[in-house]
Amino acid sequence: MIENHIKEGAVLTKYVISGGNPLHGEVEISGAKNAAVAILPAALLVDGVCRIENVPNISDVTMILGILRDLGAEVRMINPTTVELDCSHVYKQNVPYELARQIRASYYLIGALLGRFGRAEVPPPGGCDLGVRPIDQHLKGFYAMGAEIQVENGFIYAASPTGRLHGAQIYLDVVSVGATMNILLAAALADGLTVIENAAKEPHIVDLANFLNSMGARIKGAGTDIIRITGGRELHGSNYTIIPDQIETGTLMIAAAATGGDVVITGAIPTHMESLSAKLLEMGVYVSEDDDRIHVRSEGNLRAVNIKTQVYPGFPTDLQQPMTSLLTIANGSSIVTETIYEARFKYIEELRRMGANIRVIDRTAIVDGVDRLIGAPVTATDLRAGASMIVAGLMADGVTEVSGVKYIMRGYEDIDKKLIGLGAHIERSVKMGGL
Ligand code: EPU
Repeated sequence: MIENHIKEGAVLTKYVISGGNPLHGEVEISGAKNAAVAILPAALLVDGVCRIENVPNISDVTMILGILRDLGAEVRMINPTTVELDCSHVYKQNVPYELARQIRASYYLIGALLGRFGRAEVPPPGGCDLGVRPIDQHLKGFYAMGAEIQVENGFIYAASPTGRLHGAQIYLDVVSVGATMNILLAAALADGLTVIENAAKEPHIVDLANFLNSMGARIKGAGTDIIRITGGRELHGSNYTIIPDQIETGTLMIAAAATGGDVVITGAIPTHMESLSAKLLEMGVYVSEDDDRIHVRSEGNLRAVNIKTQVYPGFPTDLQQPMTSLLTIANGSSIVTETIYEARFKYIEELRRMGANIRVIDRTAIVDGVDRLIGAPVTATDLRAGASMIVAGLMADGVTEVSGVKYIMRGYEDIDKKLIGLGAHIERSVKMGGL
């Protein structure tokens, strides 16, 4: 699906960005990564065809589709962003190590397979290295629903002795996006009522619940911290369109502000962006909204602001990294506090190489604004670190070579092409595979 091969044998390795060009024009948002990676496995819950539209063309989606194929699902690409999934003939409940380790979202196979077949064998998930990322709350939920869980030989074995799960009252000790969605997947077919307390409220949770409801599930309260799922009813195939990506929208809003640009973002959901819009307005950026369009304009001269990452509707951790790039050129000192992940500041070393003045103390970064960043070779250490490097490269003087593009391709569809469409100067650097 994703074209990371530019021509036969060649692999995209770097974005070479000549900075200093204000972004202008319109750009359309793709489907939400973190919704797609749960909605696609949800198709496992039915004998029948699910047609999913607005699927982002990114490598994490390619991986999930690869896993579904491996399990025996029929995967038909109707076009690059529409897929039909038929899981009627799925015959395996074990996900191979090599596939699962490549992405975080492979944990959703546990909930979906347990829900449909009463058993799952899945290796612990991979994904971006942001420090320790336990999944104890997922497993606690499955256990409460009657699954026996063993973790051994590098696999998670989950199985219900009766072959079915039952409803349960589950209080999450930490507000977890992944656990909330995984329990939704498992509970949709479970017998009786499941209640998730202290649930996460992110837009992709509502999207997954809407998809499951379109398949005949009975889920109420998604988007609040108490979700009730009445299971036990057979589900059916459905047509569904994934919501626009909140984090891609935010990254492009930040890029527009960072370059002193004037950009209209289309196909977005402005209410998902309120925490970012509020911060940009506080910095002196013009932000206005109209239906599914967000207009961002900046003439520079930005004010420093403080950011604290929080669960939705707070400031998203996934925008902390690109936002910090923007803060490097604000007037004054900004304080960025990361509360979700213990190790999401690795990219700051790369920003320093471009002239940023940032100190990190534990989970806080103190950003003292500088006049400008200077282009340098930098590395994307994870997906959103990649977004941070791109924003920094767009606003820096000179040339920035961003390597580690494979991380960026996990979650941003054609980010370079979209930015070039707005007037950015970005070239792709490729190398021949195996060299
Ligand atoms: N946590 C636990 N136990 C659990 C689950 C989570 O202690 O069982 C902790 C985590 O260690 C973390 C916090 O709770 O400190 C929040 O983790 P959460 O479960 O919400 O995150 P996740 O499911 O691992 C998803 C996204 C991330 C995004 C976070 C927060 C997917 C595939 N990943 O991760 O996306 O940062 O929610 O919104 O949906 C990204 O897109 O770049 C990305 C990292």
